[in-house]
Amino acid sequence: MRSCLHKGKNIDLVGIQNFLTMYLTFGKISAMYHPLLVTHSFFRWLVLASLLFALYRSYTGWLGKKPFNKLDNTTRIITSTIVHIQLLLGLALYFISPIVQYFLNNFKEGMAQREIRFFGMEHITMMLLGIILITIGSAKAKRKEDNVQKHKTIAIWFTIGLLVILSSIPWAFSPLISRPWFRWF
Ligand code: HEM
Repeated sequence: MRSCLHKGKNIDLVGIQNFLTMYLTFGKISAMYHPLLVTHSFFRWLVLASLLFALYRSYTGWLGKKPFNKLDNTTRIITSTIVHIQLLLGLALYFISPIVQYFLNNFKEGMAQREIRFFGMEHITMMLLGIILITIGSAKAKRKEDNVQKHKTIAIWFTIGLLVILSSIPWAFSPLISRPWFRWF
């Protein structure tokens, strides 16, 4: 199949195939692409686990009016750090991914194709938003004097951040954009 019709637009499938084949043939895909993709894919689980643990600590702390202890503060710091490492991995991946390269070099065609548009634009936008929300929440919680207010701030900002992140992960079960649960080196 050379092309397909999507919402009245003719999508050049051969163009994408040629582009990817060219990259593979001329060895222009960075050697770092696969290791970064594997690491970024794995790091999503650390992001989710740390956020869920931070939310468990903050909701029980907020609703149970508990003190904001050392473990809570360490959890806040580690969660933000993991999320920021994922941001750096994502940024590095963004500039070497052949999918994103295709998007940046063929903006019009790329915008018309769900998967190319997702990794070229939607994923980065939503993930940046989620990470910004978590960063603001963490910084605001740090500045609060009251223990319960610290828990409450983390609970609210991290919940919204997590929901934004969850909505833009290419889940293996998604009928739209799907990627494996785990990748191996
Ligand atoms: C918490 C934040 C993030 C999570 C949980 C996340 C998760 C994921 C997952 C699960 C994949 C699929 C990996 C695979 O193919 O197995 C992926 C791909 C990707 N992510 Fe992220 N991501 C995050 C943030 C970002 C950010 C901020 C950027 C860009 C700055 C980014 C750029 C990319 C790119 C370029 C790809 C794949 C491109 C390709 O397949 O060639 N991600 N991400």
